[in-house]
Amino acid sequence: MKRYLITGGAGFIGSNFIRHLLKEDHDLECIVNLDVITYAGSRENLKGLPDSEKHILVEGDICDQELVIGLLRQDELDTIVHFAAESHVDRSIHGPAAFVRTNIQGTFSLLEAARQVWQRERQLDGDEVRFHHISTDEVFGSLETQAAAFSETTPYAPNSPYAASKAASDHLVRAYGHTYGLPISITNCSNNYGPYQFPEKLIPLILLKALTGELLPIYGDGQQIRDWLYVEDHCRAILQVLKQGEVGETYNVGGNNQLTNLDLVKTLCTILNEQAVDSPYKPHENLIQFVADRPGHDRRYAMDITKIDRVLGWEPNENLLSGLTKTVRWYLQNQDWLQAIIAEKEFGNWLALNYETRGDEE
Ligand code: NAD
Ligand code: TYD
Repeated sequence: MKRYLITGGAGFIGSNFIRHLLKEDHDLECIVNLDVITYAGSRENLKGLPDSEKHILVEGDICDQELVIGLLRQDELDTIVHFAAESHVDRSIHGPAAFVRTNIQGTFSLLEAARQVWQRERQLDGDEVRFHHISTDEVFGSLETQAAAFSETTPYAPNSPYAASKAASDHLVRAYGHTYGLPISITNCSNNYGPYQFPEKLIPLILLKALTGELLPIYGDGQQIRDWLYVEDHCRAILQVLKQGEVGETYNVGGNNQLTNLDLVKTLCTILNEQAVDSPYKPHENLIQFVADRPGHDRRYAMDITKIDRVLGWEPNENLLSGLTKTVRWYLQNQDWLQAIIAEKEFGNWLALNYETRGDEE
C-alpha cells in the first residue's frame, strides 16, 4: 500500500494527478498534499475529489524542512511526487527570486527531509520509497526548426530564470540519487494543458480573453513551436513511472503535438466558435493581436518519447483536437472557477504588469 506526499497538489498538474491517483491507484492508502497556496494554487481545484477521505491538504511551505520531516515521520509516507514550483516563465522574467527560493531551495529542503527520515532514521531502500521529481522540457533550451527532438541525453541549456531554476533542481535530485543512493526518478514533460490550468498560461488565457471579447496577445511572430501534452496523459505517465520505472532514471514525456503558437490559437478559436454558440465575439480569430516578444523567447521545444514508449509502453491517448475540445468544454462549463480567479486583485495586477507595456508588435 502506498502513502503519498504530493507537493503542489493544489496547482494545475498536481490537482489533476491527485484525481488520477484516487481513481486509478488501487494500492493507494493516503495522500498528504503539501501546498502553500500561492496565487497559482487553490482549494477550489480540490473540490469533488473521488474518495476524498484518503486526501488531506496541509497548507505549508516545502522550504519548511522541519514540517516536511514531521509529515514523513508521522504519516509514514513512502512516496514523494514533487510538483510544487513557481511555474510561469514570464513571471520568472519579472521576478526571479521566488523561483530560486521555491524551485531550488524548496527541492533541496525536500531531498534533505527524505534523506533524514527514509535513510538516517528508517534505513528504507529503493523498493520501499521513491522521490519522484516533475521537471520540464525547458531545461534543454531551444531547438532549431529541423533539429531532432530532446532526448533524455540532450545536454541541459536552460535559457530563462524559470528553466535555470528547474535545471538546478533536477541536478540536485540526480545528485542525491547518485551520492546518497536516494531512490529518485525524474520526468521531464512538455507544455501541459487541460482542466484547472491557471489562466496566465497561453491556452486558458486565450479562452478567457476570447470569451470576454478582449484581444488575444501573441508574442512576437507567433512562430514559436511547443509540443502540447494533455494533462491526463501526463498523469498516466507519472503513475506508470512510479509503478514500473527504474530508480535513478529520467523519462521524457511529450504529446507528439508540435505546432506554432499562432496555429494553436487559431485552432482554439475554431473550436470555441463551434462550442460557444452564443458568443457575440465570433469569429474569435479576429481578436488576435501580435504584441512585443518575450525576452529570450525559446523558439522550439519538442520531446522524443521513444524511451518511455519502449520501456513502459506509454504514449499519449489524446491528439491535439481531442484534447483541446475537452479543454474548451471544461472551461465553458466552469465559468465560476475562471471568474473567481479574474476577480482576484493579484491576477489583475499581473495582467497589467505583463501586458500593458507590450503594445502592438510592428
Ligand atoms: P502551478 O503553478 O499550477 O502549481 C504550482 C503549485 O505549487 C501551486 O499550487 C502552488 O501553490 C504550489 N507551491 C508553490 N510554491 C510552493 C511552496 N513553496 N511550497 C508549497 N507549495 C508551493 O504549476 P503546474 O503547471 O501544475 O506545474 C507543476 C509542476 O510541473 C512544476 O514543477 C512545473 O515546473 C512542472 N511543469 C509544468 C508544465 C506545464 O505546462 N504546466 C510543463 C512542464 C513542467
Ligand atoms: P506558456 O503557456 O507561458 O508556457 P511556456 O512559456 O512554458 O512554453 O506559453 C506558451 C507559448 O505561448 C510560449 O511560446 C509563449 C507564448 N505566449 C504568447 O504568445 N502569449 C501569451 O500571452 C502567453 C502567456 C504565452
